[in-house]
Amino acid sequence: MASRTKIKEILGTEKSDYEATVKGWVRTFRNNQFIALSDGSTIKTFQVVIDRDNTPEEVIKKISTGAAISATGKVVTSQGGGQKVEMQAESIVVLGVADPEKYPLQPKKHSLEFLREIAHLRFRTNTFGAIFRIRHSVAFAIHKFFNDRGFVYLHTPIITGSDAEGAGEMFQVTTLDLKESPRGEDGEVDFKKDFFNKATNLTVSGQLEAELGALALSDVYTFGPTFRAENSNTSRHLAEFWMIEPEMAFADLNDDMDLAEDLLKYVINYCLENHGDDLEFLEERLITEEKQKPQNERSEMTLRDKLKFCVDNDFQRLTYTEAIEILLRSKPNKKKKFQYVIEEWGADLQSEHERFLVEKHFKKPVILTDYPKEIKAFYMRMNEDGKTVRAMDILFPGIGEIVGGSQREERLDVLKERMAAFDIPEHEMEWFLDTRRFGTCEHAGFGLGFERLVLFITGMGNIRDVIPFPRYPGSAEF
Ligand code: 4AD
Ligand code: MG
Repeated sequence: MASRTKIKEILGTEKSDYEATVKGWVRTFRNNQFIALSDGSTIKTFQVVIDRDNTPEEVIKKISTGAAISATGKVVTSQGGGQKVEMQAESIVVLGVADPEKYPLQPKKHSLEFLREIAHLRFRTNTFGAIFRIRHSVAFAIHKFFNDRGFVYLHTPIITGSDAEGAGEMFQVTTLDLKESPRGEDGEVDFKKDFFNKATNLTVSGQLEAELGALALSDVYTFGPTFRAENSNTSRHLAEFWMIEPEMAFADLNDDMDLAEDLLKYVINYCLENHGDDLEFLEERLITEEKQKPQNERSEMTLRDKLKFCVDNDFQRLTYTEAIEILLRSKPNKKKKFQYVIEEWGADLQSEHERFLVEKHFKKPVILTDYPKEIKAFYMRMNEDGKTVRAMDILFPGIGEIVGGSQREERLDVLKERMAAFDIPEHEMEWFLDTRRFGTCEHAGFGLGFERLVLFITGMGNIRDVIPFPRYPGSAEF
């Protein structure tokens, strides 16, 4: 038997009149003769035409939506419309049946909510096939981008003893018996008796360790899972998400913004160039979905136009202070239409404000810089004004914050002051402070939320639909 050929390869050439074997899952079976077969290599199905006279009845009976089959035969120019080539099957083997009475994925439209409940099977739908092929390419393009620029991929620890963001949203890691944990004299849990002889948690960010790498290797990046125990039940938050964190030595905030903008454009363009079919499908899906919405809520651009627009235009750069002025003067603020009305400089921006700036005011991606020090992390470089830090957030249409980064505080004395202001004990961070004691230098980096980028590129509305098995408050299925 000929070795198996993937459907993408067969449909990708004009070739016909040759023998091949395809394997995949039946999407539909029409007139007891026409199988639409998918093997996940492309959004397109391949038509396999059964030779009814020479295929036993018991084989035909087992062919139904969801069944796994192997088909061998001649690839020929298609008689019917809809496809260029099809297979005239000489032999069909049903590898795994799917009882139509029980198989949950029938050829009809299922809601995303329903599919989330059967996430173990949702890969088999057109929508999720497209999403996860694109998710793969986004990851690949990210590695390619950094590799081409000489960045070193650094694996930072998943289990750590530190809270990089200082936000206290950590999942604890312990092997202690929760019912009978050892206690110290003060009655508190004695973590010296725990597995690592100290309290540990799942990492919220690989940044601090990436900084250590950058101050020797110059340009590094991490790309791994991060965990946040924030009780955010939104369509933009996950408890387990993947983050890309580059860190560059001898670089300032402008270099940082340039790198982030280049990276985002490169990856989006990579998807446009390599996933035309998948994006076309998702674009149609979105158009159908938006027809349910009132006219003023529908997007003005199609999915691919929106992606192209991002690649072709400079992101709007402005300071937090300038953004606050725009927001204070804005209609929704004056008319108290925002849930959180901006009263004065210093206010933390909510996603409604971010989205106003991006979607209504500038109508393009925005980079906000120089935030008040109180609303940003301890490691960000203090500006001359003593009030703001060298931070930057990139805000995307429909998403809000997609990137958060900064130039780092490289001056030992200033960094210590900042840590004191945030109540971060110095003795726990000696390793971090050592980089400032020995050969410190200007450096900068950022964190890109991987799922938020996939969300943007696929045009999906909920972050739970762009990661195979989402973790969020109340849910850790599969
Ligand atoms: O802004 P954040 O918290 O920044 C950091 O963690 C820094 N240490 C990054 C750095 O400078 N190296 O997170 C960075 C990005 C956000 O902009 C957002 O895209 C994403 O990570 N993110 C989340 N994505 C999904 N679910 C969550 N709960 C997220 N929290 C942050
Ligand atoms: Mg942030």
